[in-house]
Amino acid sequence: MYICICRAVTDSAIHEFVSGGASSFRDISSATGCGTQCGRCVAQVREVMNEALVDQGLLASSEQLRVVSSA
Ligand code: FES
Repeated sequence: MYICICRAVTDSAIHEFVSGGASSFRDISSATGCGTQCGRCVAQVREVMNEALVDQGLLASSEQLRVVSSA
């Protein structure tokens, strides 16, 4: 699914960049150009990037944080 229409960046591409070591919006934007034209995709790029970071075990999910904070 396309996340950034202007630069034709897909969710799969964002997951691949995170697997390759990208860990910030700036990393992904620098590599793909996403968010640099109309900017409408920025929030969704961040959301997909965070999902990918959780998948990689590099970021705790909100559910994990909720469990930790209530413990
Ligand atoms: S949709 Fe990503 S810059 Fe326009």
